[in-house]
Amino acid sequence: MKAEQSAIPQTDPFALFDAWFAEARETEPNDSNAMALATAAADAAPSVRMVLLKGRGPDGFTFYTNAQSRKGDEILANSQAALLFHWKSLRRQIRIEGVLEEVAAEQADAYFHSRSRESQLGAVASDQSRPLADRATFVERYSAARKRFEGGEVERPPHWTGFTLAPHAFEFWMDRPNRLHDRRRFELTQGQAGGSWKDTLLYP
Ligand SMILES: Cc1cc2nc3c(=O)[nH]c(=O)nc-3n(C[C@H](O)[C@H](O)[C@H](O)COP(=O)(O)O)c2cc1C
Repeated sequence: MKAEQSAIPQTDPFALFDAWFAEARETEPNDSNAMALATAAADAAPSVRMVLLKGRGPDGFTFYTNAQSRKGDEILANSQAALLFHWKSLRRQIRIEGVLEEVAAEQADAYFHSRSRESQLGAVASDQSRPLADRATFVERYSAARKRFEGGEVERPPHWTGFTLAPHAFEFWMDRPNRLHDRRRFELTQGQAGGSWKDTLLYP
């Protein structure tokens, strides 16, 4: 019998991420760039929520948010975080672990102003994660923001920003028949010549 091989190639994990993400863009009906972001408070209690991947550069994976939110408070206390992509139509999962760093103000400005004006005003109006007395209060704050910036550019609130997760581990999971699924984990190891990725197959 021919020895069966893992269907997840031993390759650069960023390149593998890009290949799977490109397939997901073709197959997922909605938000193929949606990812769960797990953070942990200073007391180590975890929390998780969805955000949208808005950039994949050489440094890592970028999303945008309000830094005065619950996640923002947790990131300030503990910059370690994890991301999770699950593409149901492909039956694949990617876990990514690393450290978050805030993007430069110019990058946050550029992304903020690339969004629709309505979204920019919504970001100004929202005190993300803070208690809201009633929906009408939010709508009034939105109208007030619209009036304030009428005829001019909407200013990015300084706490509305982006974070980039620089990964030190990836794990790729894909469905295989009989629940004999494939898993391959990549870890960054620091050598004298800089970082290199070491990969290991894991039982599913
Ligand atoms: C598919 C999806 C994508 C989302 N994308 C973002 C995002 O990119 N940025 C963001 O701040 N919140 C996003 N949200 C809302 C967050 O899940 C969350 O409700 C919000 O950021 C407040 O989280 P926090 O209280 O933990 O800070 C998204 C929600 C969903 C369901």
